[in-house]
Amino acid sequence: MSRFTLELDDIQSGVLRPRPTPYAATYVLFRIDDREAGRELMRRLSCVVASAAHPTSPAGETWVSVGLSFQGLKALGLPQASLDSFAPEFQQGMAARARVLGDTGESSPEFWEKPLGSADVHVVVTALSPDKEHLERSLDRARQAYEKLPGITAIWRQDCHALPTEKEAFGFKDGIGHPAIDGSGNPGTNPHELPLKPGEFVLGYPDEMGEVPSIPQPEILGRNGTYVVFRKLHQRVAAFRQYLKANSLRPGEEEWLAAKMMGRWRSGAPLAVCPMHDDPELGADPKRNNAFLYKEDDPVGYKTPCGSHIRRTNARDAEIAGVVRIHRMIRRGTSYGPVLPDGTLEDDGVDRGLMFAFVGAHLGRQFEFVQSEWMNDGSFFGGGSTKDPVAGPSDGDGTFDIPKRPLRKRLQGLSRFVVTRGGEYCFLPGLRALRWLGNPTN
Ligand code: HEM
Repeated sequence: MSRFTLELDDIQSGVLRPRPTPYAATYVLFRIDDREAGRELMRRLSCVVASAAHPTSPAGETWVSVGLSFQGLKALGLPQASLDSFAPEFQQGMAARARVLGDTGESSPEFWEKPLGSADVHVVVTALSPDKEHLERSLDRARQAYEKLPGITAIWRQDCHALPTEKEAFGFKDGIGHPAIDGSGNPGTNPHELPLKPGEFVLGYPDEMGEVPSIPQPEILGRNGTYVVFRKLHQRVAAFRQYLKANSLRPGEEEWLAAKMMGRWRSGAPLAVCPMHDDPELGADPKRNNAFLYKEDDPVGYKTPCGSHIRRTNARDAEIAGVVRIHRMIRRGTSYGPVLPDGTLEDDGVDRGLMFAFVGAHLGRQFEFVQSEWMNDGSFFGGGSTKDPVAGPSDGDGTFDIPKRPLRKRLQGLSRFVVTRGGEYCFLPGLRALRWLGNPTN
């Protein structure tokens, strides 16, 4: 029995609702040039966003989420005291946090796709449907709404999708691990993980620190809102494949290396449960594919290396410096671009990758911490300055240790397989707050 009652009818459905499989989605960014038009946009959008309590969406088969950047809240004319009450990382915006995030070199904001990282990104609308036709029909309706609204300009659009296989561009099944949230009604996917307090994901509730943290003001604006991070991450699929090939000594070793780097076989089957070979049935079984811990069974990482992507980003019960539960997150990753055909080792120059999305109430200790301390550094598990072998910013000099008897295997010369193309920190208001933003002086 949960100790918490979440006001599900006031929380945007995108925060808590699991996504269908497969689906088509799109991100549309808007700039507000006129304050009144911006407020009118909020009023209109508040009618198409579903709440987490309703299984149906007011936009038919399409589910819409609405987020605002700090610049967007400013453009709506929020009072200074209210603006000052938001998380400092959010106030700065993602581009200003580049150093902390490791967005350097090719991933620096100066090379980001325009207008990402600029002060023009105000409103982020995401729409999601089981297929492209439904999505396009809903977007047509939405277009009619904003095209008749002078002072609002759509400035960027990114289409994305989840394939029926749920595989991302490197070929791994994604979207398996989700935390349980007390009071949300959604069980997590790991039966061994105790539900997290709702304040980790929704503002206005107690969190894992044992208190209700301060929320953006006024109360009607902050309550039932959350933060969302979206990042367009270009994936160098050919380079990843070439690396695996160049570093395997015998046939079949490529798949083993890939699994060690991720912590799961491509099918999603976890090394923790099935360390010697892939097991597609296990990978596809939601009851078993995330039911594991590390401490008792695999403290050294003989099965799942401590530096692998999934063990870094969620060390579960393993001995590390720090407390895992205060750095958890909801992820809503979606692929963009066409799949690179199987076996192709040459880059075809086509842009493909992941529209990474984080949802959580604490930008600093959740998203930024995981990115900077766990993905871009290895000290927390005794791995020195090593970076995530799949998604970390290595520059041709990265190493990755695979614990093995009698001798560990060390991969060398890892390069950057993922390049940041841009993104933003957003605030996803509750539904009452969205309506309030339509008339924030009241
Ligand atoms: C292009 C970049 C990325 C790719 C291709 C990628 C891919 C994957 C895949 C295939 C999984 C395993 C499936 C699952 O457990 O759901 C996974 C898990 C995960 N990833 Fe990523 N990821 C990327 C970037 C990131 C980033 C930037 C973060 C956070 C800052 C992140 C955090 C996580 C977390 C928390 C898990 C779940 C770990 C667990 O609970 O065991 N990933 N990722």
